[in-house]
Amino acid sequence: MRFKCVMAVLLSLLLAVLFPGCALNDKNSVRIGVSMPTQERQRWNQDGGHMQSQLEKQGYRVDLQFADNDPDLQIAQIEHMIKEGCRVIIITSVDAHALSEVLDKAKAAGIKIISYDRLIMDTDAVDYYATFDNMAVGAMQGEYIEEKLGLKSGLGPYHMEIAAGCLDDNNALALFEGSMYILWPYIQSGQLVVKSGQVSLKQCATERWKEDIARERMEGILQTYYKDDRLDVVLCANDSTSLGVQTALKEAGYPVPGQEMPITTGQDADIKNVKAILRGDQTMTIFKDTRILAGVAVKMVSAIISGKEPETNDIGNYSNGVKIVPSFLVRPQFVDISNYKEVLVDSGYYKMKDLQE
Ligand code: BGC
Repeated sequence: MRFKCVMAVLLSLLLAVLFPGCALNDKNSVRIGVSMPTQERQRWNQDGGHMQSQLEKQGYRVDLQFADNDPDLQIAQIEHMIKEGCRVIIITSVDAHALSEVLDKAKAAGIKIISYDRLIMDTDAVDYYATFDNMAVGAMQGEYIEEKLGLKSGLGPYHMEIAAGCLDDNNALALFEGSMYILWPYIQSGQLVVKSGQVSLKQCATERWKEDIARERMEGILQTYYKDDRLDVVLCANDSTSLGVQTALKEAGYPVPGQEMPITTGQDADIKNVKAILRGDQTMTIFKDTRILAGVAVKMVSAIISGKEPETNDIGNYSNGVKIVPSFLVRPQFVDISNYKEVLVDSGYYKMKDLQE
């Protein structure tokens, strides 16, 4: 028995010499954890799926988990990934502020952490950040509204309301800042009038980005402030908040015959939302190609495992409160009725039949 073990070790040493990077560093024995926040939204299923298939193609063993939007469940899943010996864990946090303790354990075990799409806050145990440029997403939503309403030419006043993201997610803040950078001057000049007076991120936030919560809040706003006035535009942080807002608008009788629906923004280009754009219920969304972001994270993993420094393109801007996290930012794209085919179908992301009712 002992002889067999010694022979096995010698054999693998020999393989390591003959085929460096293959035998002892066999990727089949390298586990990678992928911790996604929820399966409720289309995108996290895609992000998780793309990462899993791309990593498995390279020979890694992948533990992909979804946390049902529950921070405690996510912590338990990460604990498990640490115990089963994952070398790298890719995480999209449910609550960006809840992972410090569990990530201390990961760090102590020598595990590298990639923050995926959402920046994990309050810990020095995050090594890299792969994301779309969230400020740019917000700015693109703001610029779209600015252009559609002719705000630069001084048109207005228009009535606007805001449905923002979840306060536990740093992206909600980045988006809000990006869009307000463009739209705040028009709120100040009176070209955009927010009748509810709710203009801070806290006032406009949507817990866990939930469609129902965005709907309920917008129903209240419409009943209280828009009985006699038309609401012209709702700045919606993403596609789920946008769907909730669209339902509330329809319940309140929009579109008024002869008029279009109020302008609504979004983010993610989920199938349901692209269909809503085609029906005229939603005006625009922001496309974040999950294949590309998954590819960025997988490249980071490969670099880490082979002892190299992962490629980053932003090393100064993403502070998580404890450290500046080296980041790779991907540029998003806007989508509306004018370009959806070119951006979403011609790129192979969707098939035309996916988008038909
Ligand atoms: C992501 C969005 C997503 C939202 C809700 C954000 O962190 O950046 O793409 O729509 O979470 O899941």
